[in-house]
Amino acid sequence: MSFVDVIAKKRDGHALSRGDIDQFVQGITAAQIPDYQASALLMAIVLRGMSDQETFWLTDAMLHSGERVDLSDIPGIKVGKHSTGGVGDKVSIVLAPIAAACGVVVPKMSGRGLGHTGGTLDKLEAIPGFRTDLSIEQFKDVLRRTGACIIGQSASLAPADKRLYALRDVTATVPSVPLIAASVMSKKLAEGGNALVLDVKCGHGAFMKAEPDAAALARLLVAIGANSGVRTEAVITNMDAPLGRAVGNAVEVVECIETLKGDGPPDLTALVIVLASRMLVLSGRFDERGAEPAVRGAIASGAALDRLRALVEAQGGDARVVDDPGRLPRAAHRRPVAAPAGGYLATLQADLLGRASMALGAGRQRIEDRIDHGAGILIARKPGDPVREGDTILELLYNDDRGLDEAAALAGAAIRIAAEPPPMRPLVLGRVA
Ligand code: URA
Repeated sequence: MSFVDVIAKKRDGHALSRGDIDQFVQGITAAQIPDYQASALLMAIVLRGMSDQETFWLTDAMLHSGERVDLSDIPGIKVGKHSTGGVGDKVSIVLAPIAAACGVVVPKMSGRGLGHTGGTLDKLEAIPGFRTDLSIEQFKDVLRRTGACIIGQSASLAPADKRLYALRDVTATVPSVPLIAASVMSKKLAEGGNALVLDVKCGHGAFMKAEPDAAALARLLVAIGANSGVRTEAVITNMDAPLGRAVGNAVEVVECIETLKGDGPPDLTALVIVLASRMLVLSGRFDERGAEPAVRGAIASGAALDRLRALVEAQGGDARVVDDPGRLPRAAHRRPVAAPAGGYLATLQADLLGRASMALGAGRQRIEDRIDHGAGILIARKPGDPVREGDTILELLYNDDRGLDEAAALAGAAIRIAAEPPPMRPLVLGRVA
């Protein structure tokens, strides 16, 4: 069938066959399908949707567009973790050392900041010397030595996704449950783990703003995992406000270290405990009752902090930051943002604060931008807290004041004060197993 006929088939609301989907993905990978035809099919998928079967085929074809990491020569059960992206989401940096300290191997390929959301790689690179560009062999070597390793996506994994993602970004075709599911799972399955825990974010700061959409994405991600023989669970979590009290890069690393010392903010600590416990259960090393005490024990004993030290050192970073976070880059200036009225902090809108942090230099506006690892935001009050007029709600941290006014305006717009205590959504909104 000509590719024009494949586009027309989806445009008219029909299901694509396995052959149609293979033709699409092979054509994308070999750069034989021009961008205008690929974009037309993507838009038809956004508007017409895909059945679960079509999405399984799409994921499988994208997975097989590149290499799949073979971790079979590394002893132990390997459990991956992925978040669909949020603001202040530093969970992986805390969770990987905890799971490793409990005997689970954590192979983690992470991303950079995307839009208003932060990226684990950018945060880790705030640590002087830390390398995220290891080869697959080096990745495996660190995994063998420390039980966890966090690197960037290798170019040989799911190359079809790289081309499709870049096209989707500029053709308004990102928000589609089947396209997001195939994109995420083709990369995660290529990582070669035996099981996978997914944090599907929902709310102002997430891709999925509404709970039914987040739940549909979670169900599809889990179904794709099961269909590929990888035990997969998804936890749907609230991303209305940033997670923890730090947004940026170095400030988030400091918060990770504090959390591993048992002094982290309650929401981050609670989420890490939930997700790490699910990883331990999926590994088969712990049952439902034993997982959470093991996670808490790894924090209380310092074993998880020791793993972070080992991971930083194995990846070329200055491990002294773990005991002396003052060695991390710091912003020279601070500007407080105050409560405009007294009452209760009702909203601290995550997407606006993510954009404010970018304006301060903590994220990229363009691919080629350099990140200022010291810039970011420190949050003094969280939603639900009582406030008096003039109280500091947050502080903007910066070295370069070019984006300061924009950041201050975004931060001001992110804050809403109410006269009564606001209704609060729980941190964990649901789970799909
Ligand atoms: N993250 C991905 O990897 N892909 C998407 O499509 C959306 C979020």
